Amino acid sequence: MSIQKIAVIGGGTMGNGIAHVAAMAGFSVTLVDISDAALERALGTITKNLTRMVSKEKITEADKEATLGRLTTSTSLEAIAPEADLIIEAVNENFELKKKIFQTLDAAARPETILASNTSSISITKLAGVTKRPDKVIGMHFFNPVPVMKLVEIVRGLETSDEVYAAIEQLSRDFKKVPVPVNDSPGFVSNRVLMPMINEAIFCVYEGVGTPEHVDEVMKLGMAHPMGPLRLADFIGLDVCLDILNVLYEGFRDPKYRPCPLLVKMVDAGKLGDKSGSGFYDYAK
Ligand code: NAI
Repeated sequence: MSIQKIAVIGGGTMGNGIAHVAAMAGFSVTLVDISDAALERALGTITKNLTRMVSKEKITEADKEATLGRLTTSTSLEAIAPEADLIIEAVNENFELKKKIFQTLDAAARPETILASNTSSISITKLAGVTKRPDKVIGMHFFNPVPVMKLVEIVRGLETSDEVYAAIEQLSRDFKKVPVPVNDSPGFVSNRVLMPMINEAIFCVYEGVGTPEHVDEVMKLGMAHPMGPLRLADFIGLDVCLDILNVLYEGFRDPKYRPCPLLVKMVDAGKLGDKSGSGFYDYAK
C-alpha cells in the first residue's frame, strides 16, 4: 500500500494541523473545506504556524516554502477523491455529517483508497459500516495542536485489515508522530481516561471541595500535569467535553460517566471555555 497523495477533509483546528504535518513530511496534500473563505483561513493558519517554526529555527524558510508548495485546496470532495491514496476526514463531530462524507468518498475514491477519521468519539466501526470498504476504514486520532503533539491514537474498527493498520502506523511515523494502536470502543483510550478525570474535577468544584484554581494546582503540582483538568476542559471546549461524556455514558450505560450537572449548566449558559471567552476561567481580558 503506497501512500503518496493525501486529502484532508475539513480545514478547522485539527484539519489544518493534519495538512501541515502531512505536507511537511513530504506528501502531496489537498485540503478540502466548504468555502474558499474557510480554505483561506486554514492556509493562513498553516502559514503562520510554519513562520513561527522558522523563527524558532526548527525549519528553514526553504522548508516552509516547500511545505506550502505541496499543499493545494479544493471545495469538491468528488473532484479530489479519485486522486487520493488516503483521505483523512476532520469535519465537525457530527455522525450524520461524517456519514454523508464517508458515503460520498466511498463512491468517488478508488477501491484501494484508505478512509481515515480524526473523530474523537464516534465509533470507527459505525463509520466503516456506511461504506462498502469497512476493511479500509480506520481512526487516526490526532491531538491539538497537531504540529506539536506527538500522539496518534490509531483506532482499529471491527473489520479494519492488518494491511491498512500497518500502512497507517508507518505513515504516522513518517509524520514524525508516535502511533499507539487501540481497538474501537467508546472514547477509545484517550477520552475514556481523560474525560472522567475532567468530570471528577468539575464535581469537586460543584460540591465545594475546591475552587477551579485549587483543583488545578493540586493536579499540576501533585501529579505533574502540565495543565490542570479545568484549564484543559476550557481549552478543549466544555461543549466538546459534555458531548464526549455523553458518548461514554450512553456507550457503556454506566453511571460512572454521568456528566456533572455543573458542566451541563455551564454549556447551557454558553460558557464553553476559551472559545466563548469564559468557562472555569475568564478569558475576556
Ligand atoms: P472545527 O470546527 O475547527 O473544524 C471543522 C471544519 O470542517 C470546519 O472548517 C468546517 O468548515 C469543515 N467542514 C464542515 N462540513 C464540511 C464538509 N461537508 N466538507 C468539508 N469540510 C467541512 O473542528 P475540529 O476541532 O477541527 O474537529 C474536527 C474533528 O476532529 C472532530 O471530529 C473532532 O471530534 C476531532 N478532534 C478534535 C480535537 C480538538 O481538540 N479540537 C482533538 C481531536 C479530535
